Amino acid sequence: MYSTLFSPIEVGGIRLDNRITMAPLYLGYASEGGAVSKLLLEHYRLMAQSGAAMIVVENATVDHPVASAGNRTLRIDADQYLEGLTQLAKEIKNQGALACIQINHAGRFAGGQQPVAPSEVDTFGKTPRALSIDEIHQIRDKFRDAAKRAKQAGFDMVELHGGTGYLLAQFVSPHTNKRTDEYGGSLENRMKFPLEVLGAVRDAVGDFPVGYRFLADEYLDDGLKPGESTRVARALSDGGAVYLSVVGGTYESFMKPEIIARSKTEGYMADLAAEIKKHVAVPVITAGRISSGSTAENILASGKADLVGLARVLFADPDWPRKIREGREDEIIHCDPGCEDICMQLVMKGKPAFCTQWGPQKMRQFKDLFE
Ligand SMILES: Cc1cc2nc3c(=O)[nH]c(=O)nc-3n(C[C@H](O)[C@H](O)[C@H](O)COP(=O)(O)O)c2cc1C
Repeated sequence: MYSTLFSPIEVGGIRLDNRITMAPLYLGYASEGGAVSKLLLEHYRLMAQSGAAMIVVENATVDHPVASAGNRTLRIDADQYLEGLTQLAKEIKNQGALACIQINHAGRFAGGQQPVAPSEVDTFGKTPRALSIDEIHQIRDKFRDAAKRAKQAGFDMVELHGGTGYLLAQFVSPHTNKRTDEYGGSLENRMKFPLEVLGAVRDAVGDFPVGYRFLADEYLDDGLKPGESTRVARALSDGGAVYLSVVGGTYESFMKPEIIARSKTEGYMADLAAEIKKHVAVPVITAGRISSGSTAENILASGKADLVGLARVLFADPDWPRKIREGREDEIIHCDPGCEDICMQLVMKGKPAFCTQWGPQKMRQFKDLFE
């Protein structure tokens, strides 16, 4: 049963025992200030013992505070965080999973006073400052240094965060990039920055695999759409990204009623992944309410994607992979589409996330570990 889901695959020269990955899920579990905490370690231990082949740790900032979404964003921007990150990678690998970490610059969605961005485009009533060319080069180097730290800490891979409308995606987007220099205008110019980041990271880390969270459709009238994003995907795959983890939507489109409705359905981003997969030579990951074994298997067996990513699905039930493998699917505790994304609402308010599906014992443990 589910023979594709539980078949191995090679990604960036590394063998994954099955097609299940944990998609990055920011929960506000790092300490105030971004260090690895007891709660974070326990959370990732639980995720990694699930039987998923690879865990992608939530976005870690390449430059605090200007690149950070908030004060509990994990930090990978200085060597002092290496010890905690090393413990984190070890905790994941001790459970038999591969450890990957996502690195990010939030750009116009950063939490600080004066966020930076490709251009001065209104962002929920605030205007970010447009980056100079020198600053763009400095950020490229921050990504490079963060990736080196990921390797040094013992992670198996690093993932560049080009999703959710953060900085790498802001450069590609015609909605947020209004520059008239070499980083704006044509699609070639708009994709230059993410490609330079990928190139600089790869040059610095050698054969350490670099994946990419890829925004394929912003779901905005004047935003990036598959007509253009398929070309960006191909350029990233040609540029050495070892996988693309395909997503749709940004903070500016997530709240549209039609997007909310769509995001309640199983496998809601699989067709987007399928569109991108036609254009790239590397494995494609799809996430988005992959709640049942049959949904996962159908997506993979029909060739829409090569791997599945579970975020809230695994948060609600860290035994999802085991229950599916052992034919105990009826025991799965499902992420509840009716809860109106309490986990997301909590982290948006700067609070640590919990799941409405947890029982009292799990809630107590969570409260005890939260600092
Ligand atoms: C609370 C929350 C935090 C998230 N954090 C991240 C993140 O740090 N990086 C990222 O690329 N995606 C992030 N995502 C998106 C997830 O990786 C995933 O694509 C999405 O939730 C759909 O998968 P799911 O239905 O299994 O949750 C987050 C989603 C939620 C709800």
